[in-house]
Amino acid sequence: MSQSVTIEHLISTSKRRDTSYMNIILFGAPGAGKGTQAVELVKNYHLTHISTGEMFRNAIANQTAMGKVANSYITKGELVPDEVTVGLVKERLAQEDCKNGFILDGFPRTLHQARCLDKLCLELNIQLDFVIDIEVPMNALMERLSGRRVCKVCGASYHILFNQPKVAGECDICHGPLYTRKDDNKESVAVRLNTYQEQTKPLIEYYKNKGILLEINGQQEINDVFQDIVNKIGVNL
Ligand code: AP5
Ligand code: MG
Ligand code: ZN
Repeated sequence: MSQSVTIEHLISTSKRRDTSYMNIILFGAPGAGKGTQAVELVKNYHLTHISTGEMFRNAIANQTAMGKVANSYITKGELVPDEVTVGLVKERLAQEDCKNGFILDGFPRTLHQARCLDKLCLELNIQLDFVIDIEVPMNALMERLSGRRVCKVCGASYHILFNQPKVAGECDICHGPLYTRKDDNKESVAVRLNTYQEQTKPLIEYYKNKGILLEINGQQEINDVFQDIVNKIGVNL
């Protein structure tokens, strides 16, 4: 178990495990495998998956007012302004399906968002159990993102080399068509990786100090990464 997690936190989390739910943040650079691992965690622990990136992409597809705002930022690889993102998460976490445990994927990404989330957790009486930091060296991320294909319907991630769908161009889960994300081009990826280094990475220290950070080696086979997560959170499947 990583020493970043305190004994007190483990005791309080294991008490809540009796009611068998967890609240998790999946943390990591663009392409680290947050979405990929979220699918497995949802399947095994029946948690609600909240991906802010996915919510923005749906809003863009539905041409909502928020989607129009988010589109210009996302295409360039920049972060959507905090006030928009925090408002979205606030609304989402208050919904019924989050009461049995959730995975936050891609939120928070700035110190301000992390502080807003703390406030929100107090208001909604939520405890964060683990922040799972999936660590992948910067030089491997470009290859992952350039070969990624995403399901248009459910958002599941595939890779032309590392994680091929059973049927080419089709999602294993829902049979939806696969496409290349607009922000998976070289220019946007460079901005996203840079933004991660400058604005998001400092949150590792923030959650280490809170004693809830788990560090996972993300540069292994997808199933091995998942096993590592399962072993470290110590919750039986
Ligand atoms: P978002 O959708 O969250 O994108 P991201 O953080 O850039 O992360 P990705 O989805 O690109 O990567 P991932 O870690 O999920 O990797 P995946 O599992 O797909 O956000 C998009 C945009 O929305 C942001 O840029 C921003 O503009 C906006 N936004 C979102 N949240 C925001 C917030 N909080 N504040 C402000 N703006 C926000 O895997 C990647 C590839 O690698 C896949 O092809 C996969 O098959 C492959 N792969 C996965 N694991 C492995 C492995 N172990 N080995 C080999 N290949 C692997
Ligand atoms: Mg993702
Ligand atoms: Zn799908």
